[in-house]
Amino acid sequence: MHPMLNIAVRAARKAGDFIAKSVETPDNIEIMQKSSNDFVTNIDKAAEHIIIDVIKKSYPDHNIVSEEAGVIKGKDKDYQWIIDPLDGTNNFVRNFPHFCVSIALRIKDRTEVACVYDPIRNELFTAQRGSGAQLNSKRIRVAQTKDLTGTLLATGFPFKAKQHSSGFLNVLTALFVDCADFRRTGSAALDLCYVAADRVDGFFELGLKPWDMAAGELIAREAGALCTDFAGGTNYMQTGNIVAGSPKVLKGILGKIREHGNEAMKK
Ligand code: IPD
Ligand code: CA
Ligand code: CA
Repeated sequence: MHPMLNIAVRAARKAGDFIAKSVETPDNIEIMQKSSNDFVTNIDKAAEHIIIDVIKKSYPDHNIVSEEAGVIKGKDKDYQWIIDPLDGTNNFVRNFPHFCVSIALRIKDRTEVACVYDPIRNELFTAQRGSGAQLNSKRIRVAQTKDLTGTLLATGFPFKAKQHSSGFLNVLTALFVDCADFRRTGSAALDLCYVAADRVDGFFELGLKPWDMAAGELIAREAGALCTDFAGGTNYMQTGNIVAGSPKVLKGILGKIREHGNEAMKK
């Protein structure tokens, strides 16, 4: 295993196990509102602290971008860790057991290693660029679906950007004609890993942040998925709009977005 993936896994497991343990003492969870419909807890912050501590011990000069702590500058500009200490906070605060820790390392602006850890199911998704993707050390692959017929698609509602509700729902309606069903799990990082593990056939969401996607995106691609922005380009880390799936599923989703999405959904 790449030594930096090893560190990512160590950090993700330590933070994930802390998060899972904290569920047992709900009275100690403090919930704060960041913005409309957007929450953070003391557990997100403590988990983030654990992760940063593990990374800094091994790589004190690396840069870090983490959801709650922001940018932590290091001397070595080429290395950037992208962290979501708790993806699925809304699930976590409701004791809805579906959330994860997401850690990616980008070297010279290219994601090299990624790990997503679901501490409730003890599922560890990992990937190293060029070496495939694994779930608990077993290789995972995306199935080559013919088209949207019979597919199970994951998505996220734009609950922090409700001005996009009607454009989003138009796309959903158009997709629902062809696909079998949808899942809205509440963790974008796990949605991308579920594409990788062939648990869903495709995923799309708008308005995500780099830490929601960075690790899951490499895991999905290393399992054979394609990832694009809503225009079919590669700017999803900038636009926050991502589609993932096998080539045929991706094409089907992009076609519906092009036809039924609003202007904000064209990039
Ligand atoms: C959220 C989850 C959710 C997605 C949101 C994200 P958070 O991340 O990934 O599935 O729909 O857009 O913000 O806030 O729980 O880390
Ligand atoms: Ca997130
Ligand atoms: Ca988060």
